[in-house]
Amino acid sequence: MKILYTFILSLFLCQVSQAQLPNLIPRPVSLKAGAPENRFSLTGSTSILISDTTLNKSSSYLAGFLQKYYNISPTTVSYSASENKTNVISLIRTASVSPNKDQYTLSVLKDGITISSSTNEGIFYGVQTLIQLLPLSAENPLSIPAVEISDYPRFSYRGMHLDVSRHFFDVAFIKQYIDYLALHKMNYFHWHLTDDHGWRIEIKKYPRLTEVGGWRDGSIIGLYPGTGNDHIRYGGFYTQEQIREIIKYAQDRYITIIPEIEMPAHSMAVLAAYPEFGTDPSKKYEVAQTWGIFNKFNNVLQPTEQTFSFLEDVLTEVMQLFPSPYIHIGGDEGSKIWWKQSALSQQIMKDNKLKDESALQSYFIHRIEKFVNSKGKNIIGWDEILDGGLAPNAIVMSWRGEKGGIAAAKQQHKVIMTPENMMYFNHSQFLKDDSLTAAKYLPLDIVYNYEPVAKELSPAEGKYVWGGQGNLWSEYITNPAKVNYMLFPRLDALSEVLWSPKESKNFTDFQRRLKTQFKRYDLMNINYSKRYLDQ
Ligand code: ACM
Repeated sequence: MKILYTFILSLFLCQVSQAQLPNLIPRPVSLKAGAPENRFSLTGSTSILISDTTLNKSSSYLAGFLQKYYNISPTTVSYSASENKTNVISLIRTASVSPNKDQYTLSVLKDGITISSSTNEGIFYGVQTLIQLLPLSAENPLSIPAVEISDYPRFSYRGMHLDVSRHFFDVAFIKQYIDYLALHKMNYFHWHLTDDHGWRIEIKKYPRLTEVGGWRDGSIIGLYPGTGNDHIRYGGFYTQEQIREIIKYAQDRYITIIPEIEMPAHSMAVLAAYPEFGTDPSKKYEVAQTWGIFNKFNNVLQPTEQTFSFLEDVLTEVMQLFPSPYIHIGGDEGSKIWWKQSALSQQIMKDNKLKDESALQSYFIHRIEKFVNSKGKNIIGWDEILDGGLAPNAIVMSWRGEKGGIAAAKQQHKVIMTPENMMYFNHSQFLKDDSLTAAKYLPLDIVYNYEPVAKELSPAEGKYVWGGQGNLWSEYITNPAKVNYMLFPRLDALSEVLWSPKESKNFTDFQRRLKTQFKRYDLMNINYSKRYLDQ
């Protein structure tokens, strides 16, 4: 009886202490609650102290957030110049280097909040955690619970993708999307800028890419194969000036943007503008109006010298714009039938002693890799780039399950895991979803329980798993509210997969913390399915 009593009491105590801990996503490595009397009161007279001016990005982000959602405008001052060290939020870059460069500590006490790290990124992640400690409504003062946190990410690549070809999203929304990623401590934004349904990046040397390739004369209605065509002209693109503005916005949030320029397939928009790069120049190519189905339309580039010069020109402009050390060159779903049917493709294969079309795909990617490497950057490609032999420095994005990622890691290539059955957030999140969605099902718990390091990999091979990524393809995502709806809360689950220690994961506990996160989303006007509130 006594044992039973002790057991029940300890369960109760455990629950009490859990309930006192703030609900953070992703869950930090170590979180200890402080004494209730040590809560910090944030008011209009609180200042942010920074140990050096490179921390201005983090202090402006925090000040901007407080202004936007709580109508409080703290001033930022130099830590050493400030005589006052109470009622402050101190951002301190330390000299001591920790094994994980993104590590930070966050301490909340009555007199002040301190975030310290040896890197600016670490400080920024600490700021994101602090944001989650703020109250869920604009009170005055903002009462922040006393805590001691020490935290760092599990993976160094934490990515999220957005397809802006099937549907276009404007600059203001892309910035908002980047803020969503920042809030979840993600550090890579994979921007899918080109595809069959629209070319979305201005290239000065080839203006027809956006003049012609940026627009389609209609879109399929309903779920593929659809019930017709709306015949509404649809399109848009980003100027290079706008892209620079977005890159700067992302840099201020420690997010690297990886641009994707698709090749050799998914190139209908290119071919509508420049049919001479296609395998059938007599064909009247059009920007695609029906969603892409493998083998159904000829969207493949002809591997001629003229095409390679064109791609090198495009990539040169792209690499001049984007500081990212990585350029995604697509490589997926290139049907071999178009090269098989083209006498010129066959001749090129013969001239280069390529035994089949897989070898031609590999030849194509190797050439592009060599060019990109010559500019000091590396390529990332979808797992089809394994076909016919992997280019020497290529990074593989595994989407057709985990097989490609496993094979690449065994060949000692870095991999990003994004298997479609676990990481495609355009798939429906409920068995019967509220609006038109791709006809596949990806509930929250599957995302949450995904383990990026496949058990087929030895510990040494597992180190090649650089991280993971969620993908958002936009065939059925026509507006920003729908992006929100598909993204949240699967992005929360993903952030915990990529940031939190594997041993600490617990879906039930995640669901409990999510309830608080939803209230924060209400404050931030983020759209998510209210069905989660009943679960
Ligand atoms: C892909 O989903 N085709 C990468």
